[in-house]
Amino acid sequence: MASLYSILLLLPVTLAQSCWRDTHCSGPLEPAFPGPWEANNYSPSSRNVRPRDVLALANASIISPFPGASSLVGNGSALVFDFGIEVGGIVSVDYSTTGGSGRLGLAFTEAKNWIGLTSDSSNGDFGSSNASLRGNFDQACNDGAIYGQFSGPGQHSYTMDLPHLRGGFRYLTLFLLTNSTDTALEINDVSCEIGFQPTWSNLRAYSGYWHSNDEDLNKIWYSGAYTLQTNSVPINTGRWIPALSQGWANNGTLSNGSTVIVDGAKRDRAVWPGDMGIAVPSTFVSIGDLDSVLNALATMYAHQNFDGSFPEAGPPLLQQGSDTYHMWTMIGFAMEYVYNKVLEPLGLLNVTGTRDWARSQTGGNNTEANMILYRTLTTGASLAEWAGNTSLGATYTARAEILATNILEHTYDIGYGAFKDNNTDTALHPQDANSMALLFGVVSNTSATAKSISERLTDNWTPIGAETPELKNNISPFISSFEIQGHLTIGRADRALDLIRRSWGWYLNNPNGTASTVIEGYLTNGKSNRLEGSFGYRNYRGYNYDTSYVSHSHGWSSGPTSALTNYILGLEVTGPLGSTWKFAPQFGDLTSVEGGFTTGLGKFQAAWNVTNGGRAYSAEW
Ligand SMILES: *[C@@H]1O[C@H](CO)[C@@H](O)[C@H](O)[C@H]1NC(C)=O
Ligand SMILES: *[C@@H]1O[C@H](CO)[C@@H](O)[C@H](O)[C@H]1NC(C)=O
Ligand SMILES: *[C@@H]1O[C@H](CO)[C@@H](O)[C@H](O)[C@H]1NC(C)=O
Ligand SMILES: *[C@@H]1O[C@H](CO)[C@@H](O)[C@H](O)[C@H]1NC(C)=O
Ligand SMILES: *[C@@H]1O[C@H](CO)[C@@H](O)[C@H](O)[C@H]1NC(C)=O
Ligand SMILES: *[C@@H]1O[C@H](CO)[C@@H](O)[C@H](O)[C@H]1NC(C)=O
Ligand SMILES: *[C@@H]1O[C@H](CO)[C@@H](O)[C@H](O)[C@H]1NC(C)=O
Ligand SMILES: *[C@@H]1O[C@H](CO)[C@@H](O)[C@H](O)[C@H]1NC(C)=O
Ligand SMILES: *[C@@H]1O[C@H](CO)[C@@H](O)[C@H](O)[C@H]1NC(C)=O
Ligand SMILES: *[C@@H]1O[C@H](CO)[C@@H](O)[C@H](O)[C@H]1NC(C)=O
Ligand SMILES: *[C@@H]1O[C@H](CO)[C@@H](O)[C@H](O)[C@H]1NC(C)=O
Ligand SMILES: *[C@@H]1O[C@H](CO)[C@@H](O)[C@H](O)[C@H]1NC(C)=O
Repeated sequence: MASLYSILLLLPVTLAQSCWRDTHCSGPLEPAFPGPWEANNYSPSSRNVRPRDVLALANASIISPFPGASSLVGNGSALVFDFGIEVGGIVSVDYSTTGGSGRLGLAFTEAKNWIGLTSDSSNGDFGSSNASLRGNFDQACNDGAIYGQFSGPGQHSYTMDLPHLRGGFRYLTLFLLTNSTDTALEINDVSCEIGFQPTWSNLRAYSGYWHSNDEDLNKIWYSGAYTLQTNSVPINTGRWIPALSQGWANNGTLSNGSTVIVDGAKRDRAVWPGDMGIAVPSTFVSIGDLDSVLNALATMYAHQNFDGSFPEAGPPLLQQGSDTYHMWTMIGFAMEYVYNKVLEPLGLLNVTGTRDWARSQTGGNNTEANMILYRTLTTGASLAEWAGNTSLGATYTARAEILATNILEHTYDIGYGAFKDNNTDTALHPQDANSMALLFGVVSNTSATAKSISERLTDNWTPIGAETPELKNNISPFISSFEIQGHLTIGRADRALDLIRRSWGWYLNNPNGTASTVIEGYLTNGKSNRLEGSFGYRNYRGYNYDTSYVSHSHGWSSGPTSALTNYILGLEVTGPLGSTWKFAPQFGDLTSVEGGFTTGLGKFQAAWNVTNGGRAYSAEW
């Protein structure tokens, strides 16, 4: 289809570009699909970026574009530098001073509502090292600021050291601390050397694309893709463990290789396999960086325990003991460790490990864990067959079929029309297990059961997204990423698009957000003012994170990127490298969609238009 786009080659990339520091460059040089959709790509055209605007700290309003306002006069005076999008890396400031000595402070935040003389929270110390702070997260997670010093008047420059690499921020507050009343500081330049996507010299060289007649959906697709880039990091920039109680350090070693996919840009900066359940399919259809994925999986396998279990998270965090996250590592392979926990008489997985995304004790025959086991068995069967072991594939397939029957028999609530949280008489019908039942095919996609589950899931919807019953007051774009794909699996594009617009649309258009990435989770603030919502997240331990600890660039929330490509455009690989594939568009209320991605076999591309007021369509692939 090259002829279609030859007249549309806008945006030639002319700036000199480079990979991160001494990293060997191995990324693509040019986008695989050049075209006007590149205007929606948030990724900067250079690894060295500068702010877009200068804001007043007092009221967060724009004082001038950058370069512009630049004077700090007197102790405590400050200016906020807005990069316009999420960035991350090493900041340098050139400045000159008159008068006495003092310090230039730098404080970082992803969200606009946390601009100030201290950074938003990233270090992960929930007061554990200081009993008097335990439970008081606003104090316990004190990232604070970092400082350049000057001893007298003159020209100065300050560059952050590598351990202080700040993984994700949009706003940088620069402030002056001085004891002498006549000290003034003039900011001459501010820049950030981007650390993420370290092996790419051209950060905009995506191997996939998406374009439609809905501008909000286009931005949402690209905000997922850009989030995944910010999560693909140099292997020696993981968060240091044990967590610091003050400040931050991103000097942990995560894996072999040069680049690795972590959960979030600001934090945790660790490999989390559960997150990869959403992040990897979206990576595949957008940026196409599978090197980071390979290194992340390799680090999980390198740290497998003697009993067969995997850690819940990669090094240096190496949190242990989660059965569900064990399986997320396996989706992609150590079946017996977990299958040995399937017990008679119910024939369900009896979870003995701790923790999951929403639960501290998953407990007993938790339904979501059984859905993930079903997925582990069916993907294991495909892998066994691709590896030429048909008998092993058949064993896993048979186990999956029996498990599906047992899940339905013991955990489906016929009266309500959706799955319960476990096999007991509970009234909780979780968003995760029900979304996964549809997406993973535990229930047939044409069954009345599937239709009922899809409808019951909408009971959780608020104007700003789906409030998850298993983690009250929270909206989880992670689990909603499964939900939208669940609706699409049974042909309910209307529901999927509606939920994408409510939830991801709310964040992308939020004046306090990054306007370029996807957020880890947010709060409904109770039923009385559901329309407002706020940044914050109540985690599985049942307490609120420090609200500024929330990650605003978290790949586990990037589900719309793969969902729009695989189900709305309708182009999806079904065999290794795309040796087999399917094209099955779902129009929803859209009139024009095109997109594509690249595998080792080459480019896959499709496009469709709905015409004659919805009475006809044209498509090509
Ligand atoms: C915001 O604060 C700055 C600095 O204090 C001031 O100059 C400006 O007028 C204020 N803008 C608004 C809209 O209040
Ligand atoms: C300078 O300003 C900072 C931040 O407002 C404040 O904490 C400090 O006490 C001030 N120092 C002096 C000498 O006034
Ligand atoms: C943005 O943050 C400001 C400052 O905290 C707050 O007053 C405002 O309500 C927030 N806006 C939204 C839409 O959340
Ligand atoms: C714990 O925090 C309190 C309050 O900031 C502080 O006074 C105390 O020195 C801290 N203790 C330790 C052991 O760091
Ligand atoms: C101000 O003076 C105090 C006391 O001498 C000193 O501890 C502090 O570091 C000074 N602050 C700056 C910014 O120079
Ligand atoms: C990383 O930084 C922390 C905090 O400064 C320090 O304690 C630790 O030793 C550093 N680790 C390495 C490997 O340099
Ligand atoms: C790194 O590579 C070495 C050599 O191949 C291997 O022994 C080790 O397990 C790998 N470590 C990780 C974390 O992948
Ligand atoms: C079943 O689920 C409910 C709701 O989440 C929970 O309160 C209960 O503890 C669970 N029971 C078991 C045995 O895990
Ligand atoms: C099932 O798991 C629970 C912990 O969730 C454990 O107490 C119990 O012993 C297990 N049941 C069996 C039969 O192993
Ligand atoms: C889970 O199911 C197994 C049988 O499959 C049973 O032994 C176990 O007691 C159940 N656990 C709970 C907590 O109900
Ligand atoms: C299939 O896998 C099983 C279990 O790992 C193994 O015992 C068997 O030898 C394999 N068969 C073939 C043909 O590779
Ligand atoms: C869709 O419509 C656009 C604009 O009319 C046209 O350029 C494109 O070729 C059409 N695509 C298909 C697949 O019909």
